Amino acid sequence: MLKFLKWTGIVLSVIIIGLYIYIIANQHRTFTAPYPQIKAVTDSAVIARGKHLVFGPAHCVNCHASPEMAERVLKGELVPLAGGNIFDIPIGKIYSKNLTPDETGIGQKSDAEIARALRYGVSSKGRALFDFMPFHNTSDEDLVAIISYLRQQPAVRNVVPENNLNLLGQAVNAFLLKPVGPAGIVPTTVQQDTSANYGQYLANSVANCRGCHTNRDLMTGAFTGEDYSGGLVFEEPADSGTYVLTTPNLTPDATGRLKGWTRQQFIDRFRKGTLIKQTHMPWGPFSRMSDDELKAIYEFLQTVKPVHNEIKETFVFKKKK
Ligand code: HEC
Ligand code: HEC
Repeated sequence: MLKFLKWTGIVLSVIIIGLYIYIIANQHRTFTAPYPQIKAVTDSAVIARGKHLVFGPAHCVNCHASPEMAERVLKGELVPLAGGNIFDIPIGKIYSKNLTPDETGIGQKSDAEIARALRYGVSSKGRALFDFMPFHNTSDEDLVAIISYLRQQPAVRNVVPENNLNLLGQAVNAFLLKPVGPAGIVPTTVQQDTSANYGQYLANSVANCRGCHTNRDLMTGAFTGEDYSGGLVFEEPADSGTYVLTTPNLTPDATGRLKGWTRQQFIDRFRKGTLIKQTHMPWGPFSRMSDDELKAIYEFLQTVKPVHNEIKETFVFKKKK
């Protein structure tokens, strides 16, 4: 019996050590993806569109401003996209990158490399990006606008630390992480109006409403819930306790948060900005969205499949005992 235990112990140790070596050896997997035909331009109307997207519906500023700018981002201010924001998630610490034209930012990256990162989830070095960004199906026209704006901001020097993955993160990186690319055909351009069609484009492919208001596997980012039915849980430690935020159901169901909201009430809610201080929703940048953009999103949300999913409280604070 003892001998048997000894041998199982040895075999198990060999397996564990082997697994560990495999994980460490597979931290630098690279992937390929096509380079989109995207080139920055200097047309002022295109740059203005890009700036509006970056600080408004696409809310790049929410994640790519430096952490000390958080208060100003919350107010919807235009602050430099110097990067370094920390996403402290169960697999480790992920840092947003510097998006200014400095050499510590996008200075050395080509337009096609930036476009490929946004559309195909492959970094300029060929690594699979963690799927924080919802721009896989953003139109060619809007990617041109965004990158054209990025090119002509003032450069800010800021060296962002490398991502710091824990053992779980390293295992995810070695076995599971794959670049996320577009679904179906990516549009070259999308008609900008107040229709549900434009609202769907904004909500799914620009503003990430779907990404937060649908339940997901937080380890891999895969969608597990029905679209827009809410229930994605963000749990954060706070100094004196823990708070838990759960995204509300936005489908046109009796259990949906928007039940009884008129289009004007929906717009007014976005003009108010942040009401729950700890929220993840980028209310600051979203408060810069135009009435027409909000009308389109409202129209779209009326057309999604109603899902019965009661989210009782979107914010719960647990005090430390
Ligand atoms: C929800 C947060 C979030 C939003 C919104 C966001 N980003 Fe990112 N972005 C990140 C994070 C986090 C990373 C780093 C991911 C990683 O290291 O795997 C990143 C990485 C990048 C990269 C680096 C690619 C590379 O080659 O290394 C670029 C370029 C980029 N983002 C551009 C943008 C632009 C442009 C926008 C707006 C149109 C935007 N991001 C919006 C969080 C965000
Ligand atoms: C990064 C995650 C995230 C994104 C992106 C996001 N939301 Fe939210 N949303 C939340 C969270 C968390 C809450 C609950 C806390 C709060 O009310 O701020 C919320 C709350 C809401 C509410 C209820 C507000 C209230 O006062 O009752 C509405 C309406 C809403 N979101 C609509 C949207 C729409 C429309 C979009 C896209 C334009 C969007 N959200 C994008 C996370 C997100």
